[in-house]
Amino acid sequence: MLNFDFKNPTKIIFGKDTIAKLAEEIPSTEKVLLLYGGGSILQNGIYDQVKAALENYDIVEFGGIPANPEYEVLLEALKIIKSEKITYLLAVGGGSVIDGTKFLSSAALYEGDEPWDILAKYIRTEKGMPFGTVLTMPATGSEMNSGAVVTKVATHEKLGMGGPGLFPQFSILDPQVIQSIPKRQLANGITDAFTHVMEQYMTYPTQAKLQDRFAESIMQTLVEVAPTIIENPAYYDAAANYMWCCTMALNGLIQKGVPTDWAIHGIGHELTAMYGIDHARTLAIIAPSHYRYNFESKKEKLAQFGERVWGITTGSTEEKATKAIERMESFFHSLDINTKLSEYTTEFAGTAEKISDRFIQRGWLGLGEHKAVKPDDVVKIVEMSY
Ligand code: NZQ
Ligand code: ZN
Repeated sequence: MLNFDFKNPTKIIFGKDTIAKLAEEIPSTEKVLLLYGGGSILQNGIYDQVKAALENYDIVEFGGIPANPEYEVLLEALKIIKSEKITYLLAVGGGSVIDGTKFLSSAALYEGDEPWDILAKYIRTEKGMPFGTVLTMPATGSEMNSGAVVTKVATHEKLGMGGPGLFPQFSILDPQVIQSIPKRQLANGITDAFTHVMEQYMTYPTQAKLQDRFAESIMQTLVEVAPTIIENPAYYDAAANYMWCCTMALNGLIQKGVPTDWAIHGIGHELTAMYGIDHARTLAIIAPSHYRYNFESKKEKLAQFGERVWGITTGSTEEKATKAIERMESFFHSLDINTKLSEYTTEFAGTAEKISDRFIQRGWLGLGEHKAVKPDDVVKIVEMSY
């Protein structure tokens, strides 16, 4: 097991009707900016619950943060933060609204002229404007981590940011919010969380037995509840398990003491930036090729994944590992998630080279747990996923 530090200061308030507890978390003296997305919260009752809980607060609102939160839109919210002298941010949404809020938390206190530098120059956020979240869609884990991903439409760039100043102070997780999520987004959430676990697990054995079993139990639980979630998101027990799995998949715990990969996300973000493909779907496109291409260095963990998550108990390490990739792919298909780039766009010629060129420009010359996935390998992995 590798050495590690672990600190996660986010308070989780989990369960039925917990949105009503909002006022216990935000001091009544704060001037709050309530941030939300395209308006789903106005239809499904979440907005009304938030407003009822914060009845006597001084609140300004900013709606319209799009999926894959856009820098250009967020700058409008930043102006409001400054002109209205906002002191506290409240994100009510999925990963996009929460990530957008994290960017604003950082940008509100940033002293440079160009807030995009926070992303382009990888400036860590040590201190941000305080914020909390009401999660409306389980998927990213953003509600309990300190990372965010923001898109600049003008240049088709999608970049990450983070730092210890960007943990939410609290996140309210009421599994009842899942009822109104469309099937496509439920499938996305399951796929994203499942891939988060794989990125922190499918590397090489390090005798980190507890971390392995944390990871496997999250994947097993997601596989178990997925059919129920897709068919009946109002079924509370399944919704609660699903929601907690998504948070646990990326709140920092399972990655402690183990190597991590994250090449699938690195490449996947480029597919969203270029083609607007949903984040989770880009992962399902890249994961099978990535694991097949890097089979030799990952086969032990792939075989363990096969045994423990999919129950593949016979055959050699190579045979188990091969079958495990097939089972993973079938799982994505069972959620109606396509795993080939050509199923999302017909304009994919040259994609592999474009992505690899971008990585070279950014100095990303080695991805993955061994930093051994070079730009030339990226070309081959992406081509395998056409
Ligand atoms: O915009 P609204 O109206 O809120 O609708 C959203 C959006 O259309 C809708 N939705 C959310 N809750 C709903 C609902 N519809 C009905 N009922 C509800 N209760 O779902 C759509 C997708 O929402 P979005 O927030 O975009 O989805 P998700 O949570 O998957 O977030 C994706 C973004 O998070 C980033 C992704 O790259 C992407 O930009 N990620 C963030 C991470 C992090 N911060 O740790 C890690 C991830 O790997 C990921 O990169
Ligand atoms: Zn993800």
